[in-house]
Amino acid sequence: MASDRPLENTDLSEFDGVWSAKVTGAWILHQLTQEMSLDFSVNFSSIASVWGGKGQGVYAAANQFLDGLAHYRSSLGQPTWSINWGPWAGENMADAKFKTKLSRLGITPLSPATGIRALKALLSTNLIQATVARIDWHLFQDIYQSRRARLLFEQIAPATTTKPTSRSQSSGVLLHQLKQTPKRELFTQIKTYLQIKLAKILKLKPAAIEPQQGFFELGLDSLMVVELKNCLDRDFETIFSTSLIFNYSTLDKLASYLEDFLNGQTEMKIQERENQLETKEIDSLNPQELEQLLVREIQEIETLISY
Ligand SMILES: NC(=O)c1ccc[n+]([C@@H]2O[C@H](COP(=O)([O-])OP(=O)(O)OC[C@H]3O[C@@H](n4cnc5c(N)ncnc54)[C@H](OP(=O)(O)O)[C@@H]3O)[C@@H](O)[C@H]2O)c1
Repeated sequence: MASDRPLENTDLSEFDGVWSAKVTGAWILHQLTQEMSLDFSVNFSSIASVWGGKGQGVYAAANQFLDGLAHYRSSLGQPTWSINWGPWAGENMADAKFKTKLSRLGITPLSPATGIRALKALLSTNLIQATVARIDWHLFQDIYQSRRARLLFEQIAPATTTKPTSRSQSSGVLLHQLKQTPKRELFTQIKTYLQIKLAKILKLKPAAIEPQQGFFELGLDSLMVVELKNCLDRDFETIFSTSLIFNYSTLDKLASYLEDFLNGQTEMKIQERENQLETKEIDSLNPQELEQLLVREIQEIETLISY
């Protein structure tokens, strides 16, 4: 039922295919049942109606209709719930590719047993609308807010904005080891660490990651950038800028940045180098390469803010 297409490329028949099953169907059911004395009715809405989704405009709007209808029916005295479900496990309208995409955003499928338990629990509350989804808020929040702060997280901030305080043993150990490493070996150690992390994310062998090969040429996409950044944040016990991996996009460059970071170079020095690096790189591009770079940056940002 959900299409995966921007609104501007959606024709009327596609629009209708997504829209009518939910909106027309729900409205007919409402009309047929509004005089009945029902124990309850439940609209199966979606998280797409809460925070949208790339290519999901019609689906999001149709689900918003279900949410509005639940509030309307409740105002008429008909006990109605609208549940904004995250993806369910098993075979259903959310195909495996879509579920994989969502899981990289931190949204993993609910088991049917969990979904049913949540449904039963909600029916004993007087909430008219509720979101039920399994979400890694830290990962999702990083992606969702990569361009700007979102109202959604202001409203649920107390439970979600604090980074976990307990760090994995491996991250503490790594930082300790790197701090003990003689300066002349530090660069190589960091490079090896990055090679292992990148290989895991890219599903490649570590040796396949050449020191000067661009991460994006190797297949790193924007979600993987967030994954790598989260890894670095955790292992280096800091919060790096989201642009770090875009600006230092080879093994050598990123290792050199992290070496400076560990050697305690000031942010100012790093920022100066970052600016020089960007200017030097941009100056050396011909107009066609420059255009390609801009298109790629825009696409990366678009993907990051899709959810
Ligand atoms: N699955 C999820 O992860 C998920 C997440 C959030 C929300 N939801 C919502 O939960 C509901 C059920 O999803 P699902 O995954 O169980 O879907 P599904 O497996 O694809 O089943 C959809 C059902 O709707 C029927 N249907 C589709 N288009 C119709 C139309 N135009 N007129 C009448 N019936 C139509 C289908 O009938 P046929 O069998 O005859 O094709 C099928 O029985 C949907 O409203 C969906 O938006 C699902």
